[in-house]
Amino acid sequence: MRVVVLPGDGVGPEVTAPAVACLRLASAHGGLGLAFEEHDFGGAAIDRHGAPLPAETLAASRTAAAVLLGAVGGPCWDEARVRPEAGLLALRRELGLFANLRPARVMEGMEALSPLRADIAAGADVLVVRELTGGIYFGERMVGRERASDLCLYTRPEIERIAHVAFRAARGRRGRVTSVDKANVLETSKLWRRVTIDVAAEYPDVELDHLYVDAAAMALITNPRRFDVILTENMFGDILSDELSAIGGSIGLLGSASLGAGDGPGLFEPVHGSAPDIAGLDIANPAGAIASAAMLLDALGHEAHARALAAALEDASRAGPRTADLGGGARCSEFGAAVREAFRARLDAPVPVKARSAAGGGRA
Ligand code: NAD
Ligand code: IPM
Ligand code: MN
Repeated sequence: MRVVVLPGDGVGPEVTAPAVACLRLASAHGGLGLAFEEHDFGGAAIDRHGAPLPAETLAASRTAAAVLLGAVGGPCWDEARVRPEAGLLALRRELGLFANLRPARVMEGMEALSPLRADIAAGADVLVVRELTGGIYFGERMVGRERASDLCLYTRPEIERIAHVAFRAARGRRGRVTSVDKANVLETSKLWRRVTIDVAAEYPDVELDHLYVDAAAMALITNPRRFDVILTENMFGDILSDELSAIGGSIGLLGSASLGAGDGPGLFEPVHGSAPDIAGLDIANPAGAIASAAMLLDALGHEAHARALAAALEDASRAGPRTADLGGGARCSEFGAAVREAFRARLDAPVPVKARSAAGGGRA
């Protein structure tokens, strides 16, 4: 069970270190037989190999059981011929990871961390199902001195397969899918809406509604509890998931799972970027990376360890110490150690404590 770790750039190495420490603990405790190997990726790989996704990194990722990623990018590579971000897009595409699951939740009793009024934030629990290998991110590009274009293209099968992921996820949650599009303007969105309605016919037990993306952006912060599963295309999902992450108090809290159709590896990464403004200071919040590690365990079939890790993250978040993004003074490494200790306590507990399932998991 090889787990490929791609720490990447900026705070990437800082937040992946405690996540890997938790995975090592899980492996030792449960005899899971996980073996970890680090590879160069992103800006770090540009510096060492001249490319953000070296062939060796891609080959190792393809044959891994799972890939854990920190973050890529930073100002020093913004003018690179091939940017670090292009390496991430290539990795997602090469591994066929069309389904990006980004769960966010306001924990009970933790409403004060939200910038929203507590009565609005309370109970928010949303899963963004973002299409990850199509749309404007991957359409044909053109650039000239005075003109540039990015083609947004979606096909029916691409929409169908991500819609199925969302409907299946809703079945295990509160049974509601909100499809977000811009069908009042865009042809791709009109197709998106038709296809989601067709797919919904196979899920009579799941309720489907539609919102335009501008209205969805508003509803997320005025009434986040109206959402259960948000199903949306690549770019809308990118933007809305950052907005959603803030509802819980910080973008540092969100993890994600990117899954494909076959039995290839999934990619697990926090939703945030390389945070160049705080990189190297050991003050980033590693919660999103640790949440991603819990999803990784779930995807590998280690549900009990996944649940215990997600619960330990919640234990440590409640008990403190807190990182700077949440108003505390704890270092990244300190909070990471607190989660690891809470995880150890959960694993050593004689009776498994009932805990929430880490969202995501399994193949898309
Ligand atoms: P960012 O997510 O890196 O940072 C946005 C803000 O959130 C910053 O103020 C940062 O300090 C803060 N933040 C982010 N993660 C945090 C954490 N774990 N704890 C505490 N605070 C945190 O977004 P950006 O500044 O727009 O992008 C920086 C670079 O990261 C760019 O090169 C961008 O392309 C890249 N990026 C990479 C990924 C990825 O690798 N998946 C995702 C998003 C952005
Ligand atoms: C994310 C990031 C990436 C995206 C960038 C870095 C390519 O913002 O994972 O959310 O837009 O998908
Ligand atoms: Mn993003």
